[in-house]
Amino acid sequence: MTGPDEQWWRDAVIYQIYPRSWADANGDGIGDLPGITARLPHLADLGVDAVWLSPFYTSPQHDAGYDVADYRDVDPLFGDLAAFDALTARAHGLGLRVIVDIVPNHSSSEHPWFRAALATAPGSPERARYVFREGRDGGTLPPNNWASMFGGPAWTRVTEPDGTPGQWYLHLFDTSQPDFDWTNPEVRDELEDVLRFWFDRGVDGFRIDVAHGLVKAHGLPDTDHGLDPAADATALAPMWDQPGVHEIYRSWRRLADSYAVEGQDRDRILCAEAWVLPTEALSKYVREDELHQSFNFEYLMTPWLAPDQRRTITRSLDQAAAVGAPQTWVLSNHDVVRHATRLGFPQHPGLQRIEGIGPDDPQPEAVLGLRRARAATAVMLALPGSAYVFQGEELGVPEATRLPDGVRQDPTFARTGGESVGRDGCRVPVPWEGGVPSYGFGPGAEAWLPQPVEYGLLAADRQRGVPGSTLTLYQDLLRIRRELRLGRGSLTWLEDHPDDVLAFEVAAPGGTVRVLANLGEDPLPLPGGLAVLASSADLAPGEPLRTDETVWLRC
Ligand code: GLC
Repeated sequence: MTGPDEQWWRDAVIYQIYPRSWADANGDGIGDLPGITARLPHLADLGVDAVWLSPFYTSPQHDAGYDVADYRDVDPLFGDLAAFDALTARAHGLGLRVIVDIVPNHSSSEHPWFRAALATAPGSPERARYVFREGRDGGTLPPNNWASMFGGPAWTRVTEPDGTPGQWYLHLFDTSQPDFDWTNPEVRDELEDVLRFWFDRGVDGFRIDVAHGLVKAHGLPDTDHGLDPAADATALAPMWDQPGVHEIYRSWRRLADSYAVEGQDRDRILCAEAWVLPTEALSKYVREDELHQSFNFEYLMTPWLAPDQRRTITRSLDQAAAVGAPQTWVLSNHDVVRHATRLGFPQHPGLQRIEGIGPDDPQPEAVLGLRRARAATAVMLALPGSAYVFQGEELGVPEATRLPDGVRQDPTFARTGGESVGRDGCRVPVPWEGGVPSYGFGPGAEAWLPQPVEYGLLAADRQRGVPGSTLTLYQDLLRIRRELRLGRGSLTWLEDHPDDVLAFEVAAPGGTVRVLANLGEDPLPLPGGLAVLASSADLAPGEPLRTDETVWLRC
């Protein structure tokens, strides 16, 4: 184990790869592990510290791999264990750590355990690994009123081995994702063994899927929020953020710590995906003996308005400091509308809409969205703590908001009868080269989701080495952040600025940076005597900071 000063994860920038959409080596239109390995130098050039891979495990892919049928193997779609080992070795050789996803709330319905559960009678030890219950009203109605996050009820009735209609099983997500019963020690042992399996293969950490969902309230009481899953995303709902989750993570932390090597910077880390509000409740997940990090989704959902940004940043830093954890920052991922698009809509106080956008919805202002996204990223990458970057945001690619219904694969789309278009729009394959089929995503003619034409203009090869490009901006910000160790800094707000300007200084081991972000309408003259280190909009000398621009100044 290492002391806080050496702990790499406290200020790491971690790049999320969604394996099916990053790089396709075999030409089947779906990304794969060899494709990722071949493109890793892009990440070394970008200047991130680690890569997080969304699931690549054996899976029927009903939820793009978040439905795992074998936790210890690679789906043939993505490669095999040897391909994973090659990826890890290459990443480590480039100085990049490797974080993988673990999906402990549910398995796939094709997992051998669930098949065994269906093949045995109610009350069997096989059923006890999942949440099977008798229905209400003589078995004909679900056991309670919980809703699936993807639409419809959270329960499905099974046909018993003798052919009669029988019990119901719980699935907070798709019907193909039965929830484990975490009161069963066998489940705990199995998932810890899975952690060991990948730690032994050399991974540097795990991102924990639905970390706030594992433990359900005793007796599975009805929720007051009925079938509205959005309303259930609060600390009080019986399926989320139950106190029992913390004991699980204390045990996981002991396990992760057992892999650390005294005096060496090799901590293995755990990061929670927990949609828990308020921030006070979320910070419990990162107490000293629990997880290393949790995603700061409140920050992601905060509108691009100065008072809201200031409030969220301050609260986030205070809450993290109260438990001695680094704060994390994130603006985009594979479940939400990309920030280059989200910010292309009018901003309102309160938390922002993150659900997918379809062709019939109001469309974003693309130029405005990208301008604000660059400014927001320049704020994020200056903040103390660790930051997550989602594939493609370094190219400024927008959400695909006009995907035809026929190509959509997110189960949300089908389960809501099309009412919610789902998350495919942020999962469109990354463009590497303009002017070639699938923009260089792979040697095949097509990618699994069609790429909007603007992806060609934003391809990595069109931006590499180009002053002012979004890729160059990310490289510059990441380089300076690393050189000055901004992630290790401390933030002070500067009071003598207009209310609609975010103005703060980060005093870091390598020096102090003043960050100004103009969210107001009036141009902001820059103070004399401070050199411009980087800016989101290529400021010429002497120019003021215009609306939706951020600058880093050397103090
Ligand atoms: C998490 C994942 C999401 C997935 C869900 C169910 O929220 O990020 O993509 O659909 O869990 O596993």
